[in-house]
Amino acid sequence: MDDHVDALLAQMAAQGTGSVVALGGGSGPELREFAKLGWSCTLVDTSTRMLALAARRLGPAVRYVQEDAVRYMTVQPERSAGTILHVGEILGYVEDPEGLVRASARAMSADGNLVQTFVDAARMRGRLGESSVRHFSGGYWFLERRDPPLPMAAFDISLVLGWHATHGLEPIHRRLGPGPRCVVVSRLADQPRRSSHEPGSLPPPPHRRGPM
Ligand SMILES: C[S@@+](CC[C@H](N)C(=O)[O-])C[C@H]1O[C@@H](n2cnc3c(N)ncnc32)[C@H](O)[C@@H]1O
Repeated sequence: MDDHVDALLAQMAAQGTGSVVALGGGSGPELREFAKLGWSCTLVDTSTRMLALAARRLGPAVRYVQEDAVRYMTVQPERSAGTILHVGEILGYVEDPEGLVRASARAMSADGNLVQTFVDAARMRGRLGESSVRHFSGGYWFLERRDPPLPMAAFDISLVLGWHATHGLEPIHRRLGPGPRCVVVSRLADQPRRSSHEPGSLPPPPHRRGPM
């Protein structure tokens, strides 16, 4: 995670307690502050190795679920899931990224937020050779430099924000960078506006480095 996302999550965690679910949570850095402050935490990941690592780092305060992120969110009851974290670019790994946004928006609680990081197609483009890119409408697949290389999707920001709007989410914060990463925080669009000091709302980020 980068410092900005770290700071956003720490701010959210400090605003009261509730439930939070990290999809593609890996070793769980995005849950650290929430777990420390007594939130009810769930980490969902497909990898046995990452779940074991997370359990060693975060301990029994977190519920660990081995499941595909889209499948997990799709079966959660409506408005039951609290705050939802798509941190570490899970949007780019799942087969149905819009389905992940749709299922998350449906399951998110009225006072929750969706925190989503993803790779911005325009910024990533400069780092890739044409041959490693397979296009779709609004983005492309590329091979992440890992061993073995991992397919991952990059998205046009307008496509992701369009999904948020279509599925009833309203962005309350967004920022590009560092590098090609974009972070968007959304809440449910049909909820009454909250003052910036009530639990569940998000104060301005601590060190915004310029508009997106
Ligand atoms: C780049 S890591 C990010 C981990 C963590 N969120 C972080 O920010 O450090 C992406 C994680 O997504 C998991 N993952 C990939 N595809 C998934 C899927 N379809 N459902 C759930 N988890 C998935 C991987 O196992 C990996 O742990």
